[in-house]
Amino acid sequence: MNHDPQDDADDGIENDVPPETDANATLRHRRIRSFVTRAGRVSPGQQRAIDELGPRFVVPYTPQPGDWDALFDRKAPRVLEIGFGMGATTAEIAATRPGDDFIGVEVHEPGVGALLKLIGEQGLANIRILQHDAVEVLEHMIAPDSLDGVHIYFPDPWHKARHHKRRLIQPKFVALLVSRMKPGAYIHLATDWQNYAEQMLEVLSAESALENTADGYAPRPDFRPVTKFERRGLKLGHGVWDLMFRRR
Ligand SMILES: C[S@@+](CC[C@H](N)C(=O)[O-])C[C@H]1O[C@@H](n2cnc3c(N)ncnc32)[C@H](O)[C@@H]1O
Repeated sequence: MNHDPQDDADDGIENDVPPETDANATLRHRRIRSFVTRAGRVSPGQQRAIDELGPRFVVPYTPQPGDWDALFDRKAPRVLEIGFGMGATTAEIAATRPGDDFIGVEVHEPGVGALLKLIGEQGLANIRILQHDAVEVLEHMIAPDSLDGVHIYFPDPWHKARHHKRRLIQPKFVALLVSRMKPGAYIHLATDWQNYAEQMLEVLSAESALENTADGYAPRPDFRPVTKFERRGLKLGHGVWDLMFRRR
């Protein structure tokens, strides 16, 4: 959403990055991440959920493909969500689509606790959580041609031009995502930051393995609930842009 925790950390990040030279270009590239690790406070309720439900619903990161049929204890269409935040949207979608399984990836610990709490409260069986960088998860734990859908909602917009390189939705990352999707699988993005929406449309349209299901931006599909931040933004006249593409 329009909150921008990364702006608090901007200067620290920038100072951390060594000057660009040929010798450190690769290293520098590897260090660019779409998130900064924030030391968020885990509430007692979230901690309880982590302790009690973590062993069943949190999948430890390992650099090998996950046996997802075994981890979900069934074979069902599988959707990957990147950066679920506090997990409210994830839980709502999972509850309304019990026939599908959802792998939620998020680095922020309080968010992991919050989603586990919702899983416990609502008795949701079709979510598994990975607390790790989504890029590495995609590279190592998700097999090629295996996903039926991808959700990325309100990824950090990285407002400042010099930080746009941290944005998730870039050609290389989208090519990686597409390689993990089955032919016919969908990718659904949403953002409330116009400049990022334009970048998303440009990058997805330029990926030859994807086709747009809409003429430009898509209407919000019924399965994506309107979040409270979004409702507040819409009241203030801010826009929200959805994009819905399919793998050819
Ligand atoms: C602005 S928040 C949006 C959260 C949620 N999707 C929503 O709509 O409210 C973006 C989230 O993406 C997470 N994130 C960013 N890059 C990530 C990555 N590479 N892997 C996993 N999580 C990431 C951040 O920790 C943050 O919680």
